[in-house]
Amino acid sequence: MIPLLELCSVGKVYPGGVATRALEEVSFAVAPGEFVALVGASGSGKTTLLNLVGLLDTPTEGSLRLAGRDVTGAAEDLRAELRRDLLGFVFQFHYLLPEFTALENALMPLRIRGTAAEDAGRARVRALLEKVDLGDRLHHRPGQLSGGQQQRVAVVRALANDPQVILADEPTGNLDSRNAHAVCDLLRSLTKELHKSVLLVTHDETIAAKADRILHLRDGRLVT
Ligand SMILES: Nc1ncnc2c1ncn2[C@@H]1O[C@H](COP(=O)(O)OP(=O)(O)OP(=O)(O)O)[C@@H](O)[C@H]1O
Ligand SMILES: [Mg+2]
Repeated sequence: MIPLLELCSVGKVYPGGVATRALEEVSFAVAPGEFVALVGASGSGKTTLLNLVGLLDTPTEGSLRLAGRDVTGAAEDLRAELRRDLLGFVFQFHYLLPEFTALENALMPLRIRGTAAEDAGRARVRALLEKVDLGDRLHHRPGQLSGGQQQRVAVVRALANDPQVILADEPTGNLDSRNAHAVCDLLRSLTKELHKSVLLVTHDETIAAKADRILHLRDGRLVT
């Protein structure tokens, strides 16, 4: 089976007055439908790694393949296209737009593609919101939702474009333990059902334990 995501000896050095090496010799692959947790101390390189995989930044060394395609040196317009078509992002802070409803926020990635895409995806996104138990909150604005509910909207928004890979950086870091587990369980069941791959960064070992596999980063290197 072709991995959806494959890193080969990836390294990252941030330039500057004092260059900072954030990643070194990182190699791993994620299979379709696999849920992988990425853990490590603050500063170990987790966000750097997620940014590379998310095509938001480029590696200094090594190669990166996405859906069987070498994207290491891809030009910005192709990177943007791949981000839009293959990837979904969930962040620690939900970044929902306060003046839009839950449904409108979840539809935003489709709205950006145009009215036809939005109309075509509306029923699916609505069904996903119902699945995460927000069927009676579709027309609430973020300010009228709890933290856990807001993050559930953000999870649905990440799935709106029907991406193949979900990248999540501390998506539960801002929630209390009960809500954190609820959001993580949801992310897991939803992505398993839809056969999406997930790379999830977390500080919380009890959250990481829900993954199919855990990758540990220490000082920019994967440790076993
Ligand atoms: N834009 C940047 N320029 C220079 N150095 C950076 C930059 N971003 C991150 N770093 C450095 O790279 C290293 C890895 O940072 P990164 O943000 O990936 O860590 P992290 O594991 O996500 O940490 P945290 O758990 O605190 O979010 C750190 O030493 C950090 O100081
Ligand atoms: Mg980070």
